[in-house]
Amino acid sequence: MENTGFRAFCCRRKWVKRDWAIATVAITVIIAAIIIFILFFTVFSDSRNRKTSSPTFAPPSAGDFVPLTLLQSAKATGAFCLNGSLPGYHFQKGFGSGSSNWLLHIEGGGWCNSIESCNSRKGTSLGSSNYMEHQVQFAGILSQDPSQNPDFYNWNKVKLRYCDGASFAGHPESEFKNGTKLFFRGQLIWEAMMNELLSLGLSKAKEAFLTGCSAGGLATFIHCDDFRDQLPKDATVKCLADAGYFLDEPDILGNRTMLAFYRDVLQLQGVAKSLQQDCVGRMEPVKCIFPQEIIKNVKTPFFVVNPAYDSWQIENILVPIGSDPQGYWSSCRLSIKKCDATQVKRLQGYRDAMLKALSMFQRNEEGGMFINSCFSHCQTSYSAWHSPNSPRINNKTIAESVGDWYFNRKESKLIDCPYPCNPTCNNDDYTSSVLSAAV
Ligand SMILES: *[C@@H]1O[C@H](CO)[C@@H](O)[C@H](O)[C@H]1NC(C)=O
Ligand SMILES: *[C@@H]1O[C@H](CO)[C@@H](O)[C@H](O)[C@H]1NC(C)=O
Ligand SMILES: *[C@@H]1O[C@H](CO)[C@@H](O)[C@H](O)[C@H]1NC(C)=O
Ligand SMILES: *[C@@H]1O[C@H](CO)[C@@H](O)[C@H](O)[C@H]1NC(C)=O
Repeated sequence: MENTGFRAFCCRRKWVKRDWAIATVAITVIIAAIIIFILFFTVFSDSRNRKTSSPTFAPPSAGDFVPLTLLQSAKATGAFCLNGSLPGYHFQKGFGSGSSNWLLHIEGGGWCNSIESCNSRKGTSLGSSNYMEHQVQFAGILSQDPSQNPDFYNWNKVKLRYCDGASFAGHPESEFKNGTKLFFRGQLIWEAMMNELLSLGLSKAKEAFLTGCSAGGLATFIHCDDFRDQLPKDATVKCLADAGYFLDEPDILGNRTMLAFYRDVLQLQGVAKSLQQDCVGRMEPVKCIFPQEIIKNVKTPFFVVNPAYDSWQIENILVPIGSDPQGYWSSCRLSIKKCDATQVKRLQGYRDAMLKALSMFQRNEEGGMFINSCFSHCQTSYSAWHSPNSPRINNKTIAESVGDWYFNRKESKLIDCPYPCNPTCNNDDYTSSVLSAAV
């Protein structure tokens, strides 16, 4: 049997109008398929590389895009990003019953502890606003949709971009005076941001909530009481750190890798000046950057959201690259599902250390916590915050637990049973994430 369609495309017979029409349609379909394929992979790999959200969560709707504003007032005070550019933030105005309430969320992104690592940030959004996206999606705790964010959806919301490399706590006195063009202005950026937001209406806030994730969670610990002090006395002011409870724990070889890393950050950027001065006077200053020390003296009500097996901490504190030259942990450190029984036992030890470091704070009457047993990092500004497939403890989402605590509806101190008991955990796999080693 002769297949004319096939012949029309393959053989020498002269093409008639109909053949051209078929060919055009076919080529259009193929090109469309290729474009869809490329788009799918761009979106998919982007969500994987972001390292913080799970690819199975639905992206927020287009209405949640919020533009970047550069902080023009930073010129006057010299509050610059690492490369000397202006810092930035994204602001979405509140409405209805939320119009005089404010929620700030500080972006994360690790720290730089050497001239080289700070220099390499100059070419990224973590060191220069020239590389910041002109708009970002507001999701989770920043979402405007009451079904995703039941208690804070109509508040004024601000995402503070992170471009100083030291959790908004660097000082210019530590800059090199020899032509190394690096600006250590984190503390000045914090102050300039606050001044700008106070002038936009934050100074008249009735409710105010400072939050942040990862290095931004650490910034929340550092600046919480100062935030409180700048707001009206009769305002309700609280703070929340998401995945910011970094532990002072040794790695699997027994080396204090994280302590040594923070020691370098403090030394390079003069961070001790932004830490609690009585702590700095009593012990080695680097100890005072760990949240377990800071939290002892924070006077403002505080909520700690942190997975007991925080994936960033497992990768960088418990099993930093150098601690595993033989590569026994190369799969497990990036994906808890790939750990063998001995390794899981080691991770349970890390959870024990997390709970021990939180034990004093657990008795704080104004405090709240959500310590789930998932392998993840940063859960509040993504749909893990409140959606049908969010992680839960006692059937409560993070949003419900935080809302109960913020509005004094009921006590919220939730500690999950140990891995692998919680079926609501997504337990992300970072094996193919290009960013996993970078932060
Ligand atoms: C910061 O970096 C960007 C990109 O390299 C550059 O265009 C900009 O001029 C830099 N800003 C300053 C003040 O150096
Ligand atoms: C500038 O000073 C720093 C710190 O002392 C040093 O590491 C760096 O090499 C110096 N750079 C130059 C160009 O001298
Ligand atoms: C880590 O510990 C091992 C064994 O105790 C030691 O040989 C090694 O030098 C340490 N590495 C670092 C970077 O301190
Ligand atoms: C968990 O909470 C949801 C509402 O958030 C409710 O529909 C469901 O029945 C609850 N499940 C259990 C087991 O209590």
